[in-house]
Amino acid sequence: MPFARTSNLPPVITVERLLELHGADLHDLCDAADAAITDGGGFGWLRPPHRTAMERYWQGALVVPGRSVYVGRMDGVIAASTQLSRPAGNNEARAGAAYLTTCFVAPWARGHGMARRLLEAVEVEARDDGFETLQLDVRATQSAAIHLYESLGYVCWGTNPYYAKVDGVQVAGRYYYKIL
Ligand SMILES: CC(C)(COP(=O)(O)OP(=O)(O)OC[C@H]1O[C@@H](n2cnc3c(N)ncnc32)[C@H](O)[C@@H]1OP(=O)(O)O)[C@@H](O)C(=O)NCCC(=O)NCCS
Repeated sequence: MPFARTSNLPPVITVERLLELHGADLHDLCDAADAAITDGGGFGWLRPPHRTAMERYWQGALVVPGRSVYVGRMDGVIAASTQLSRPAGNNEARAGAAYLTTCFVAPWARGHGMARRLLEAVEVEARDDGFETLQLDVRATQSAAIHLYESLGYVCWGTNPYYAKVDGVQVAGRYYYKIL
């Protein structure tokens, strides 16, 4: 059920690193992810999984070593998320490269600058941690995301025509880096 605002005031947008789930957070995070997946801009999923699987996904993401989960809220309700993923400790050769993954905003919360603020927050943490670059990949069909990444200075260094398959159709992917 989409979040329905009852106020005419501009929405209050906040972003934060999520360390623990409180109150309705898990429910809201699952709802936001489901809505983004149904809209066609998922993070791998093509259809929303069973709610139990979605809840386990988020509970697990919070305890993955080297992972930071960020959320965006509209008037306090979680509506968006992205993650900063650090390389494994044994990967010395790539120790300077962090990865940005799983970026989405629920359709009802788009256009308020939430994704831009989420990415900026992830960049601050990656820079503070000493990473030299932030890297990401995205389906070539995600035009809003591509606009956002390129407007933030991400450089497309390559494409993969066999990146993903959506409803039986091959979809290309784009690979980006940004020097922090
Ligand atoms: C991409 C996405 C995260 C943007 O979220 P958002 O909160 O609406 O984005 P913002 O409001 O922060 O806008 C950021 C920029 O993108 C632009 N933008 C947003 N939607 C756009 C669209 N449909 N087409 C072109 N540009 C768009 C905005 O104009 C803004 O640019 P500006 O600051 O130069 O004006 C959201 O559309 C989404 O979740 N899409 C589906 C999931 C996805 O593609 N994720 C990325 C790959 S995993």
